[in-house]
Amino acid sequence: MNIVAIDGPAGSGKSSVAREAASQLGFGFLDTGAAYRALTWWALERNVELTDEDAVAGLLGSFPYSISLDPARERVAVGESDVTSSIRDPRISLAVSAVARNVRVREWMKSSARELAAHSGFAGVVAEGRDMTTIVFPDAATRILLTAREEVRIARRAGENAGRDLAETTASVRERDAKDSNVVDFFSAASGVTVVDSSDINFSETVSAIINIVRAGSGA
Ligand code: DC
Repeated sequence: MNIVAIDGPAGSGKSSVAREAASQLGFGFLDTGAAYRALTWWALERNVELTDEDAVAGLLGSFPYSISLDPARERVAVGESDVTSSIRDPRISLAVSAVARNVRVREWMKSSARELAAHSGFAGVVAEGRDMTTIVFPDAATRILLTAREEVRIARRAGENAGRDLAETTASVRERDAKDSNVVDFFSAASGVTVVDSSDINFSETVSAIINIVRAGSGA
């Protein structure tokens, strides 16, 4: 299995860049943050207190999670519920880091991501998250840290959240970085990881940079 592992902070453009790179490579695309978001959605649905680590971990035994790895078809489901858009709601974004901090959840997520990649049906998988290059796929053929300067990430998020106040967006990006980096370090590249800084290049240049690294490393 040809794995392209990509980590990076919020607003680095990671998700859309990784999806497009997967599409151009003919690979599957795995957004691992979606599973943390879906578990948060499921816990809230079942009135489980997110800070109760045992209760949240207890949900994993019967968490009916599914995700499409087809880069052209974004679909995340919990049982019969299509949660593709509801997991992007601010109420989930604000709450998800409590779930991402849970050690048993992280273990489950690691196995789940490996399993999904192994059975993707594609020749390769582009997997993006915060611990792809370090914990989940440390032996991946390609390992990339996609970064961008903080002001650039804030400006991109502000563009996505049109209508929201810039100060609010700044505060929310900073808060998420701070909370997320308590769990995993995704600001510095581990040994063997290639850094791609997207601050001064556009979307398609960033996608090309990723594809060039994949091709140079594996001949894909
Ligand atoms: O990338 P995202 O915003 O969808 O991630 C949602 C949350 O899950 C965020 O708190 C970071 C966390 N996460 C993680 O800890 N490890 C991953 N591999 C992916 C996401």
